[in-house]
Amino acid sequence: MAPSLKTKPQDREAGLTTTRAPFIEEARQKGELYIHQPYELYSEDNHAAWRRLYTRMLPSWRRYANEQFLRGIESLCLDPYRVPRLEDVNRFLCPLTGFKAKAVSGYVPAFLFFDCLRNREFPTTITIRDKDRLDYLPEPDIFHDIAGHVPMHTDRAFADTLVRFGDCAHTAVALLADTRDEAQKIQRLTSVIRAMARFFWFTIEFGLMRSRDGLKVYGSGLLSSHGEIAHSIESPEVQRYPIQLEWVINQAFEIDHYQPLLFIVDSFEHLYDLVGQLEQWMRQGRLNNVAPGEPQIRESDLRSFLEQTVGTTERSGKPPGQA
Ligand SMILES: [Fe+2]
Repeated sequence: MAPSLKTKPQDREAGLTTTRAPFIEEARQKGELYIHQPYELYSEDNHAAWRRLYTRMLPSWRRYANEQFLRGIESLCLDPYRVPRLEDVNRFLCPLTGFKAKAVSGYVPAFLFFDCLRNREFPTTITIRDKDRLDYLPEPDIFHDIAGHVPMHTDRAFADTLVRFGDCAHTAVALLADTRDEAQKIQRLTSVIRAMARFFWFTIEFGLMRSRDGLKVYGSGLLSSHGEIAHSIESPEVQRYPIQLEWVINQAFEIDHYQPLLFIVDSFEHLYDLVGQLEQWMRQGRLNNVAPGEPQIRESDLRSFLEQTVGTTERSGKPPGQA
């Protein structure tokens, strides 16, 4: 019989450390993607990891982060010393833009992820990296998600951009319903998801923005990386270019080293318009054959889109959940 998700003594001992949390393993085994945050399970080592991550980022944020992020950090009243409770974060966040952090047990398949954004929910990892391995982590953790992403969600234009991104996923589903040939459907969908993932990567995760005080960071991958935030702005090794949609959607990326190529937007209104352009290109079929290469598209990502095309879309001509 599957063990209960209630707190057990061994869970308390293990804490909520990334890749080593029995609570998360059990949730995954049970197929539970959306979970609660069992706050009592965080160990003192987990809180120490948060404290170190947060306090060493502060000077870099002041120097390199965009002003909306700095205002966001203030308005969320994050505790520098303890892992945040999502309900506390949401109490401050929700009245500002309607966004809220939603605890998840792991990877959220692409359509579900974008659909959450459309509903102003941000899938949020609740585990935290090991306090002795603060620098490189292939998986997201609560520091990346809450300290890197969520402060951006306090800005209205940025929040609206994420919602528009979610709308794009629904447009992709509606367009899929018009494609009868199964092989062609998979090929096109793979390309469209790849284009969306690349756009997301080069903006929401690793974007730079022009400001009165020079280039600033707004991408959450940079905002949560102690080493890369300075590197992204200061290093002569990094190529930085004004964003161009045709380039971004065809540009492969790798996740296991500092990014050698970054793109600059003028403002979040500019970014919002670019997502609109992305959607328009999708409708015109211009995302159907983007350059091959990274990222590889997971089976679960494809399935998450294909499942939406069965039934509702074909019957009503509208994506599920759309009034
Ligand atoms: Fe992220």
